[in-house]
Amino acid sequence: MAKSKRQLPSPKYFFSLVEWNGPAFNRRKLHMKRALTVKDIAEVARKSVPKVVFDYVDGAAFEEISIARSKETFSRVEFNPFVLRDSSKIDTSTEIFGKKVDLPIIFAPTGYTRFMHHTGEPAVAEVAEAKNMVYCLSTMGTTSPKELGDAVPGVRRWFQLYLMKNREDSLGVIKQAKDSGFEALILTVDTAVSGIRLKDVRNGLTIPPKIRFGTILAIARKPRWWMNLLTTAPLEFAAFRGWTKSLSELASVIFDSSVTFEDVKWLRSVWDGPIIVKGVQRVEDARMLVEIGIQAIVLSNHGGRQLDRGTVPLEILEEIVGAVGSKVDVYIDGGVLTGQDVYAAIGLGAKGVLIGRAYLYGVMADGGRGVDKVIEILRSELVNTMALTGTRNVSEIRAAGVRIRP
Ligand SMILES: Cc1cc2nc3c(=O)[nH]c(=O)nc-3n(C[C@H](O)[C@H](O)[C@H](O)COP(=O)(O)O)c2cc1C
Repeated sequence: MAKSKRQLPSPKYFFSLVEWNGPAFNRRKLHMKRALTVKDIAEVARKSVPKVVFDYVDGAAFEEISIARSKETFSRVEFNPFVLRDSSKIDTSTEIFGKKVDLPIIFAPTGYTRFMHHTGEPAVAEVAEAKNMVYCLSTMGTTSPKELGDAVPGVRRWFQLYLMKNREDSLGVIKQAKDSGFEALILTVDTAVSGIRLKDVRNGLTIPPKIRFGTILAIARKPRWWMNLLTTAPLEFAAFRGWTKSLSELASVIFDSSVTFEDVKWLRSVWDGPIIVKGVQRVEDARMLVEIGIQAIVLSNHGGRQLDRGTVPLEILEEIVGAVGSKVDVYIDGGVLTGQDVYAAIGLGAKGVLIGRAYLYGVMADGGRGVDKVIEILRSELVNTMALTGTRNVSEIRAAGVRIRP
């Protein structure tokens, strides 16, 4: 039997193995440094902000079945690897409306970002600019289109719109986007009314947060978040600054359940740039939108935050790409948390994905730095998967395809 040759322990060898790190005083920083996945960052986020904030981001509508199904469907995707292809050079870039982006990932529109971290929308847009990605500003943003354009003039930006029946109101918001250098409108159509998010109701969520007796304890638990909230500009829906309406009145105007395809036609006639329609869940709706002359659709159930038990975007992707993919770009979103999820979507024919919660976990954990880390994790997971499947660019992923296991 083979035996190792023994020797006396060498102090020099021992000390060469020691990692000379001092004790960590900032535990959040340490946890961020150690985070390997977006899920790890979500855990840092959970500890960094009040429960009401984390639940608002992480939660979904009603029984939260849609988002669970989206994640479960991603986990059933199986790759189809090639071997012995030269995978030494991997290119994750793609083109969106004729211009190169470095990753097939777009920052989805998400409201109230300054609620999650005081640096808000501009911090995310700065990362988008640095990484050559597209950033979508939500209608419900806490930064106005002009403020975002002024703060991060170099970022490629799309403005997310909810169509309102009162066309003057819609025009006012569209004009702000046009004047502030937004390249495209991303029209969200899955919000005839707002979804029932039970966690938010149970947590008594209000924007801005109300200070009640119980809040004193919350302040004691997350003093940094509260200090940042109280020492920066008050939270507001910045695109509607100057509207003399209460929050509930504002919400009923913005989420207008009477809008139809006719309103999309009208939008097409007043906006000469690209229009992306987000929230499509059926093939006939995709076809009707394409006839109106929009440029892209996002198969989305709003991350499960509106209708619970809606269609799982990944499951209808191939059918919809087959029906309209030669005429418009097709994206999906909901539950994308890894580079492998991004690969899966492209393998089933998507042009790319939108991410919401993934980057918001980064925002809550550490503002722009957290978002930067999320993108680097997604990038390295995608690159790793591409190398291991022998697909060296986005077109090769699409050609290789993937399977959804039954
Ligand atoms: C906290 C939060 C706020 C959101 N706000 C908006 C919004 O204002 N407008 C919109 O069109 N979609 C909004 N969304 C939906 C996202 O654009 C996107 O569809 C969804 O986040 C994708 O799912 P994911 O979070 O699992 O990536 C929001 C999502 C989250 C998580």
